[in-house]
Amino acid sequence: MNRSATLSRSVRLFRAFLHEQDDPEGFYSVLAADSVAQLARWADLQGATVLDVGGGAGYFADAFRGAGSTYIGLEPDAGEMTARGEPEPGTLRGSGEELPIRSGVLDVCYSSNVLEHVRRPWAMADEMVRVTKPGGIVYLSFTPWLSPWGGHETAPWHYLGGHRARRRYRRRTGAEPKNKFGESLFATSAGAAARWARNCPDADLLAVLPRYHPWWAAWVARVPGLREFASWNFVLVLRRKA
Ligand SMILES: C[S@@+](CC[C@H](N)C(=O)[O-])C[C@H]1O[C@@H](n2cnc3c(N)ncnc32)[C@H](O)[C@@H]1O
Repeated sequence: MNRSATLSRSVRLFRAFLHEQDDPEGFYSVLAADSVAQLARWADLQGATVLDVGGGAGYFADAFRGAGSTYIGLEPDAGEMTARGEPEPGTLRGSGEELPIRSGVLDVCYSSNVLEHVRRPWAMADEMVRVTKPGGIVYLSFTPWLSPWGGHETAPWHYLGGHRARRRYRRRTGAEPKNKFGESLFATSAGAAARWARNCPDADLLAVLPRYHPWWAAWVARVPGLREFASWNFVLVLRRKA
């Protein structure tokens, strides 16, 4: 049980989230520091090589480097990669569904808020296991479709259907949402993620948890049905088998 995941930490993360649009640097520095602290429960980050799949503009790079890791970002979208200017040194252009990396070379394969944007999420998850060393850690976090934020900027209308929510957004704003249901946003469930992890032949499942919740609410990630709505952001942690 990780008792450093307190209620005040959850409140801090939520407050930062409210400023994602007007202060992305502030939001991401809070989130990145929190992610590194969370991951340090399973992985020794000092001297570790970390791949951040779908790392966007590399908002997590400084936090991983600060923990003593070698950070490698991977991002398919040139616009995302350069959203803060020059990409982080060593950033790879590619898709998580087909990682341009040899098998079994990374200490940590990390992905934050990407799986729900991928057409073949379990192909990406398999790839993350493939490139991780025996004994290394795979950390996957994503927003389940039925989470209050599942529809992203079209929420909460996604509860009436993804296509409908997208059409409504277009009607209201005159523009497409950034996250387009059926193209760059998919209905990925916590249940499917847990099934994938349990059946993964090459890794042991170490933990499922709601990423931002305090420790005493961690149980919600283990309850089928409830976890789709109440985990908000669902995390899987796996260890690559020898
Ligand atoms: C919501 S952003 C998350 C960025 C960052 N990881 C974070 O936690 O804030 C989703 C990212 O996933 C990337 N992405 C979409 N499809 C992908 C794929 N097939 N493989 C890897 N990344 C992908 C997007 O380009 C985008 O940068």
